Amino acid sequence: MTPAYTFAHWLTQTYIGREMQGNAYLFPTVEALHIMGSAALVGSTSILSLRLAGLFLTDVPVSKVAKQFLPWAWLGFAFQVITGTLLFMSEATQAYDNVIFQVKMALIVLAGINALVFQQTVYRRVATWDASNPPFGAKFAGYASIVVWFAVIAAGRWLNSSVANAPMPPPPV
Ligand code: HEM
Repeated sequence: MTPAYTFAHWLTQTYIGREMQGNAYLFPTVEALHIMGSAALVGSTSILSLRLAGLFLTDVPVSKVAKQFLPWAWLGFAFQVITGTLLFMSEATQAYDNVIFQVKMALIVLAGINALVFQQTVYRRVATWDASNPPFGAKFAGYASIVVWFAVIAAGRWLNSSVANAPMPPPPV
């Protein structure tokens, strides 16, 4: 048994892990909140990304759209980390080495890198293109953000069915 598996099994045996498995209402409630968090995070980042791509709200300065929607994106992200961790704790032994879960986590990191690179490069010069047609770097960041976040949602949905059909592994000896 690997240390990762032993840790995953420990997570499922914690009070929270057991409650998430044993309480008929808790898991679906947390999953519903996880879907709502997706709407807040991916909804707000998509509106900003469509503005960056020059496809939506083109008469509103980019900095104004960012100021309005980034707080919702951060709130949604925090929500996803909390609800996602609770979901993970209920099925950690089935999820930790699941390729779809690993791809989903890698996509979330990629979305973060895309946002960080954008903020540290093109967005630093936003005053020069704020109310006009965004430069290539901004458009690229916008399109990449939309593709990656929708891939995260697709991976989450796929994970739901993949974990549900996965056999429960034996406890570590
Ligand atoms: C940050 C952005 C995230 C988004 C947009 C997202 C989105 C989703 C979606 C749409 C689902 C499918 C829900 C369903 O069909 O019922 C899902 C499932 C899941 N997510 Fe996330 N998620 C995110 C982050 C996380 C994180 C950080 C974790 C863990 C640390 C996580 C763990 C899970 C698990 C374990 C499931 C499967 C639950 C099940 O078996 O039904 N998610 N996610």
